[in-house]
Formats: sequence, C-alpha cells, structure tokens
Amino acid sequence: MTEEPDKPKHRNKVRERADAIKPYLCKNLIAVLENPHDIKNIGTVIRNVNALGVEKAYVVDPKGALPDDWQDMRERNSLSKTSVSAIKWSFVKRFDSTEACLAHLEENRFVSIVTSPHVKGMKNEVLDEADYTIYTKLAVWFGNEAKGISDEAVKRSEMCVSIPMFGMIESLNLGTTSGIVLYEITKQRREYQKKYKWRNKRGEKSDA
Ligand SMILES: C[S@@+](CC[C@H](N)C(=O)[O-])C[C@H]1O[C@@H](n2cnc3c(N)ncnc32)[C@H](O)[C@@H]1O
Repeated sequence: MTEEPDKPKHRNKVRERADAIKPYLCKNLIAVLENPHDIKNIGTVIRNVNALGVEKAYVVDPKGALPDDWQDMRERNSLSKTSVSAIKWSFVKRFDSTEACLAHLEENRFVSIVTSPHVKGMKNEVLDEADYTIYTKLAVWFGNEAKGISDEAVKRSEMCVSIPMFGMIESLNLGTTSGIVLYEITKQRREYQKKYKWRNKRGEKSDA
C-alpha cells in the first residue's frame, strides 16, 4: 500500500484530537518567558504550554534568537525538536524587550503575575494557596535561568508566586517550574471554566 491513502486518515485523526481537546484549552492564559538563555528550556516550556492547555506563549527575546514570525518558528528545527513538535500547535510570539511585552499585555488588558523562588514585590503567594481565577486575562512570567525575573516585570505584576523549596539548592529549573506552576493554574482555571459553562447552560446568573 502506498502512503497516500493514509494521509487523509492521519489528518482526520489529528482533526479529531484537535476538536476533542478544544473545550479544555485555558483561554486568555499566556505563559511569558523573560529572556531565556537556553533553546532547550524554550522548547520544554512550549511543550508544557501545549500539554497543559495554555493558550499562548510569549518570549521576551532581546538577542533575537527566535524568528519574528510564528510560521518561521514552527519550521525552526531546534524549536520543533526540543518542543517535540508542540511549537506546531501552540502559538508563540516574540518581543524585543520586557517593556514591549508588558505594553502589549496591558494594552490587551492582561494582568501579569511573576514567579520566583524569592520574595519579590508587594504581594507574595505560595503557588497552591493563590486563586488564579480572579483575573479574566492572565499572563504568568518566568525569569531568566541565571538572573531570574526582572524588577521591571515585578513592578508591573499583581503578585509573585513561589514553589516552596526544601532542599539545599536555590531554585528549580525553568522547564520544571513552568510544568508545576502551569499545572496548578490550568487546573484551577479549567475547573472554573467548567463551572461557569455549566451554570450558563442552565441560564443562571454566573459570578464571572
Ligand atoms: C533557574 S530560576 C532563576 C534563579 C535565579 N537565581 C533567581 O534568582 O530567580 C529560573 C526561573 O524559574 C522560576 N523558578 C525557579 N524556581 C522557582 C520556585 N521555587 N518558585 C517559583 N519560581 C521558580 C522563576 O521564574 C525563575 O526566574
């Protein structure tokens, strides 16, 4: 048998999967990577973004390591490999600076929160003790591997979230952190989305 007849079958399966996961996508949730150094970490975060149903990923990329256009990113081998092709399915946008990214988010009425193993800014919360459903549009920032999150991002964020550390080392790596943080946030927001839809279907007043 030639490969041709299998192609539409494969396309149908992909379409079926895409339709099946649609209701679980967390709309208006963006993961922001601020000045990541390692392409493998970018790929891992994009993989987590896709796997956990985060709507988009933004990358603050002052060194211009990524192409401007998402289509070009999808064709970049290094990103496709490290994200195990998740880049093909999750929208990624790059920014030249933290300021440009914050301005874009604020213009679109997104509230930012930062993550750090340290106490930063005015309001600090332990990851699983905070409520991530109170902001309709939420951007979650992850900092650089060595320098962490910038003061600029902290200043323009509502709070700083941390995963408690009980070992001798100072921090978790970017890929691990994004997996843990985005798991908690998407879990809360999916539960909320489900509850809101359930109420709406019955024509009752929602608390959104
Ligand atoms: C390798 S860490 C950076 C360590 C850096 N020395 C610092 O001061 O933050 C990279 C990023 O992962 C996230 N991160 C690492 N450990 C974390 C933790 N325990 N809680 C929350 N975020 C963490 C933060 O976004 C951090 O900027």
